[in-house]
Amino acid sequence: MIGAGAAGLMCAIEAGKRGRRVTVLEHSPEVGRKILISGGGRCNFTNLHTRADHFLSDNPHFAKSALARYRPADFIGLLERYAIPYHEKTLGQLFCDRSARDVVALLQEECAAAGVRIVTACTVQSICRDQDYQLETSAGPFSCASLVIATGGLSIPKIGATPFGYAIARQFGLRIVECRPALTPLLFNRQDAARFDGLAGVSTTVDATSGGRTFREKMLFTHRGLSGPAILQVSSYWRPGEPVIIDLLPGLDLIRPEGERIEIRTLASRLLPKRLADRWFELHGGSKPLTQVSDRELDDISAALHNWCFVPQATEGYEKAEVTAGGVDTAELSSKTFEAKKAPGLYFIGEVVDVTGHLGGFNFQWAWASGYSAGQYV
Ligand code: FDA
Repeated sequence: MIGAGAAGLMCAIEAGKRGRRVTVLEHSPEVGRKILISGGGRCNFTNLHTRADHFLSDNPHFAKSALARYRPADFIGLLERYAIPYHEKTLGQLFCDRSARDVVALLQEECAAAGVRIVTACTVQSICRDQDYQLETSAGPFSCASLVIATGGLSIPKIGATPFGYAIARQFGLRIVECRPALTPLLFNRQDAARFDGLAGVSTTVDATSGGRTFREKMLFTHRGLSGPAILQVSSYWRPGEPVIIDLLPGLDLIRPEGERIEIRTLASRLLPKRLADRWFELHGGSKPLTQVSDRELDDISAALHNWCFVPQATEGYEKAEVTAGGVDTAELSSKTFEAKKAPGLYFIGEVVDVTGHLGGFNFQWAWASGYSAGQYV
């Protein structure tokens, strides 16, 4: 295995349990670094509602087989065997009660029990194939019948992400679906940066829509743009130049109250954070008493709040993205074994493959499921 992250360690454990002689090569000084920083340090390790429609891929069916073979309940069972406490935060998202370190320690113990050898701080210099795969590395040469690439995506390069997996795929003639940052905040264009200056920290529930998908969750104004779960989710579907349609009043409406003498801004601030309502009316011709707002005008104001057409300048990029969308084209791989059709004995699992989960534990579930599945065959 190359890469001691979620997918690589799971695959190593499963292959080790089958009596295979397994070595994991990791270029960082420690294993599972991304697991350690995940979920704010508590690792959102799975989602109870995992289904294939929580994943993006050029082939939306590819993930189904692995997700059916290794389910959230399987990983929960593993955690419970180690008496690791966890809780459901919201929407089926399971987090460790204590720390993501519990998950990494579990994987390390399972590796030890399965006789898996882990070599950290190891650089792979070259890979070639004759009968077997031959690797030149900083820890010496290795030879193997099965080589698993589990080097993850491009997000957060400062903790060890590299394009290594994609380079190996290309070396063996495998197609790559173009990579892009996903689950990432979106940046204001210059005009919006001025219009929404000073709102950092304001948060409200919205429907955010792009690329045909809508997410109803919290949105957060930042100093540079928009973030929060609704925006991270929709960023995976957003393409440069396209708008994100934001409904600031999801499922709500501005209704004229009987017998109250208030301003339109006050009415809106009953449904929106006050700072946002104040700014909205500053930007849209000012506030006035409701008595001076016709029914038609009230409908127009309501419609504008339901349909804010936000055109981001860009995403925050791989520095802030939780995952990389795109990757090794699933058409090149078996959905059952993860073996490359053009290169027998070469496997790709986890985030390096063109399967990207929504926010909420789905990406780890994909790493466990793809690692488990390949681990039955390598
Ligand atoms: P992963 O990135 O885990 O592992 C790849 C390994 O390969 C790393 O150890 C890396 O150092 C190593 N490697 C890379 N290049 C190499 C090379 N050339 N040679 C040797 N080794 C190499 N998901 C989720 O479901 N719930 C969550 O709570 C979160 N939270 C979260 C927070 C943050 C800040 C980020 C950035 C990401 C998340 N994610 C997440 C996403 C999740 O972390 C990610 O999808 C999985 O870790 C992917 O698992 P992999 O094993 O495929 O890659």
